[in-house]
Amino acid sequence: MTQDELKQLVGQAAADYVNANVAQGEVIGVGTGSTANCFIDALAATKQRYRGAVSSSLATTARLQAHGFNVLDLNEIETLPVYVDGADEIDYRGAMIKGGGGALTREKIVASVATVFVCIADISKRVEVLGQFPLPLEVVPMARTAIGRQVLALGGVPVVRVKPDGSPFLTDNGNEIIDVKGLRIYDPRALEAQINAWPGVVTVGLFAQRGANLCLLGSDTGVKRVDYAG
Ligand code: A5P
Repeated sequence: MTQDELKQLVGQAAADYVNANVAQGEVIGVGTGSTANCFIDALAATKQRYRGAVSSSLATTARLQAHGFNVLDLNEIETLPVYVDGADEIDYRGAMIKGGGGALTREKIVASVATVFVCIADISKRVEVLGQFPLPLEVVPMARTAIGRQVLALGGVPVVRVKPDGSPFLTDNGNEIIDVKGLRIYDPRALEAQINAWPGVVTVGLFAQRGANLCLLGSDTGVKRVDYAG
């Protein structure tokens, strides 16, 4: 199967999971990216079961609305039974690198409210040690260089994300992204706490303190559910 076919497979599996485990009338948290898009497309068939969705990016909002979902502000929501999102890497304990699409801050906020985080990924995303995929940091633009020095001191290589025309990539929140290359992340929780403490860091793309509760992992043999102890 191609990677796109695997994404469709896990997107459908996530829609089946949500339809089977979330009560009618609830609100669903929805992530960002090509795998999350497959989930949105699959869930559209049963959208009338749900009061609406909370979105993690402008792109996801547009896709949800195109399917006729009611997109709600997180501030209107008291509980969110489930959050479904992709990942750039996921380890054997459910810790993830996210933010390849630049939506890490809103993703982390919505995930923090959800009872269950369902990661959907093709098998290529599963790793022994996080860090092969560059770790995204969303930063306030005036702190870019100072944070770059902190990254170098940590042993990483900071690369400011740019658009194809060479101008800085800006997040939905108007901030910049530094992609950190060259890390081998043996203790993701500790590194998440350490980087979070740097002034000017809005969000680090490590989702370890609040990792996935389960992953629906797609491979040529089908979708395997992996549960994490937390
Ligand atoms: C968006 O900022 C990311 O966190 C995505 O969830 C992650 O990059 C996975 O994206 P794909 O499903 O497109 O690989």
